[in-house]
Amino acid sequence: MSTIHFPAQAKYIDTFRKKENELIQEMEAYAAEHKIPILSWQSAELIEQLILLKEPKRVLEIGTAIGYSTIRIARNLGKKSEVHTIEKSADNIPLAREYFERSGFADKIKLFEGNALSIMPQLQKKYDFIFLDADKEDYKRLFDYSLILLKRGGVIVVDNLLWHGYAATTRVPANYKASTKLIREFNKIFTSQENLITTILPVGDGLGIGIKK
Ligand SMILES: C[S@@+](CC[C@H](N)C(=O)[O-])C[C@H]1O[C@@H](n2cnc3c(N)ncnc32)[C@H](O)[C@@H]1O
Repeated sequence: MSTIHFPAQAKYIDTFRKKENELIQEMEAYAAEHKIPILSWQSAELIEQLILLKEPKRVLEIGTAIGYSTIRIARNLGKKSEVHTIEKSADNIPLAREYFERSGFADKIKLFEGNALSIMPQLQKKYDFIFLDADKEDYKRLFDYSLILLKRGGVIVVDNLLWHGYAATTRVPANYKASTKLIREFNKIFTSQENLITTILPVGDGLGIGIKK
């Protein structure tokens, strides 16, 4: 799998990484060993900074996996704030629940089990911050639901918009062609939203950031 950075630059940036707590390190190792995709540490740090800046009361995450990004969001929330996270994988859900308990932030996290395409239309209250990190074939529809659920002035962050570098190159491996096409189509939709101020940052696997006007 390819990355969006030159190896020398990636290695250089890695030298500035601060040591994470044991649970976060364990989760990173588990995800790597079991090939579960989670946020890159740089993207996780950027999202933590955005959470600290925005001070959201209500956060929605679509795509929990084992709960890595959920915990990194939860640990930066204010006293009365919470994060709702949606996961459909029966394998990942128990792992995420266990990590939430161990993190000490379980009381700030509500996990919805099931497909976000069915769950999001049922959510009543709006959110100040939404993090979209799910299957690429669902991105367009999950983004549409996200825009409905995002408050004015709210922030939406979408992961994987440079898609291992393939979004921006003509040399795409056969097994990435379909997903790359989806990401490219999504990027056009994302950046042309009239009601969003958007940018795509070359951090991690490419982070889209939008602020709702
Ligand atoms: C990239 S992983 C999420 C990683 C996580 N955000 C992190 O950084 O720690 C994507 C997860 O989204 C879940 N997922 C994908 N599409 C979904 C959908 N439509 N509804 C609910 N979960 C979904 C997958 O099962 C997978 O666990």
